[in-house]
Amino acid sequence: VSVLAVASEIYPLAKTGGLADVVGALPAALAAEGIETVTLVPGYPAVMEKIEAAEPVLAASDLFGGEAKVLRACAAGLDLFVLDAPHLYARPGGPYTGPDGRDWPDNAFRFAALSLTAAQLGLGEAAGFTPDIVHAHDWQAGLAAAYLAYDGRPRPATVFTIHNLAFQGKYPADLLGALGLPPQSFSIDGVEYYNAIGFLKAGLRLSDRITTVSPTYAAEIRTPEGGMGLDGLLRERADVVTGILNGIDDKIWDPEIDPLIASRYAIQSSALRYANKTALQKRLGLAVNPDALVFGVVSRLSWQKGQDLTLANLDILERMGAQLAMLGAGEPWLEEGFRAAALARPGKVGAVFGYDEAIAHQIQAGSDALLIPSRFEPCGLTQLCALRYGALPVAARVGGLADTIIDANEAALASGVGTGFLFSPAASEMLGATIERVGRLWANKEAWSRLMMDGMKTDVSWRRPAIEYARLYRSLVAERRQ
Ligand code: ADP
Ligand code: GLC
Repeated sequence: VSVLAVASEIYPLAKTGGLADVVGALPAALAAEGIETVTLVPGYPAVMEKIEAAEPVLAASDLFGGEAKVLRACAAGLDLFVLDAPHLYARPGGPYTGPDGRDWPDNAFRFAALSLTAAQLGLGEAAGFTPDIVHAHDWQAGLAAAYLAYDGRPRPATVFTIHNLAFQGKYPADLLGALGLPPQSFSIDGVEYYNAIGFLKAGLRLSDRITTVSPTYAAEIRTPEGGMGLDGLLRERADVVTGILNGIDDKIWDPEIDPLIASRYAIQSSALRYANKTALQKRLGLAVNPDALVFGVVSRLSWQKGQDLTLANLDILERMGAQLAMLGAGEPWLEEGFRAAALARPGKVGAVFGYDEAIAHQIQAGSDALLIPSRFEPCGLTQLCALRYGALPVAARVGGLADTIIDANEAALASGVGTGFLFSPAASEMLGATIERVGRLWANKEAWSRLMMDGMKTDVSWRRPAIEYARLYRSLVAERRQ
């Protein structure tokens, strides 16, 4: 089975969040299951700089206002199609926003171009590759299913994965013609979404299968509370929606060989882990003290992630003699909150702002527990890293967090099955009470290290998820051959 994956980010070439990690790691895991994946990504400057052996396989003289080429290329072990369209992608800034932090005004065209190219590749227009399946990720690739559906030629099967229902790609209806979509596509069974064009909605309506990144999120998005306006559609299509958990790349996230941390360690040698705690305390300006319980945070700073709840509990942390090591970037109100906290509580709260992979690894290796008070979380990857690195995850019981962490309540502790701490609802009092519960366990060093080792034994790799995706692809291909 061969798959064309389509996404707006891919680790390590372009990343703003977990989507990139998933799209970057899944192909190798799928290869072990006999699935060939080539991934189509936009030719952002960061991508163009890193690709090797690029060969043009398709060309267009006018792709939404400029010339474009599709290059077949390799980079970082990934097999890629790169959409080289300088008028859309050759600019400074991020994948979605300019240097001023605002959305690019032509995002509808930037990602329609990605989706249209996916459809062309899906239809076999590039010699030498005709995929059985086009697998589109998130709203940026949502129109791929629409271009395929309205093309008329026999098309490959389509899978759409929801990584986050909060980002929907909604654009004015009067762009329909300019986006190359036919008039009849503007209907409830097509791309129409609350009187506008919905890229995510189109993907959900028109793909053969829908997956999302955890079973619990798959259930949550069918409810009015979690559906963000799309729950009706998702209930109607419930028979084609499944939740497949994410994994993490266990070569990049391996404390035994991680080059980014001060001291490498394994489950059996977890005593070696403590040098990482000292290094982290120094790096973040915290008082060097092995007895202080260090809570880590590695997060985008947005409402979704609930880190304002962490800010609301700093007095409790301080009273317990605990410390906070925070790495994050995002909304100014949250950055300002952590900046002020670090100033007001020197040696107790350390904060680093921006995107920094080395510090992300150092927090996973050096903190005792990781705070993840998300209001919703489709899957979440940082709790998987935390499990692998022996930082006990302390998380809201939502989405993939609920599916990957076993709460260490009395019963779980007694039978040795707990791997972290869960609380619900995601509110500041509940987080506060849970932080105190973590503090009580911290006082019992033996119970703590047992819990840590149980967590480190959790299989957080892509092995099992890849088997599930392979099964989904195969059943879909078999069904369409009948
Ligand atoms: P989301 O995609 O919603 O941001 P995930 O938990 O799925 O959340 O993925 C986040 C990814 O981004 C993880 O790989 C995490 O380590 C990384 N990350 C988040 N914030 C930062 C940061 N400030 N610096 C470095 N890596 C970060
Ligand atoms: C999204 C979600 C996150 C998930 C990631 C990868 O960014 O917010 O929960 O882990 O996608 O699927």
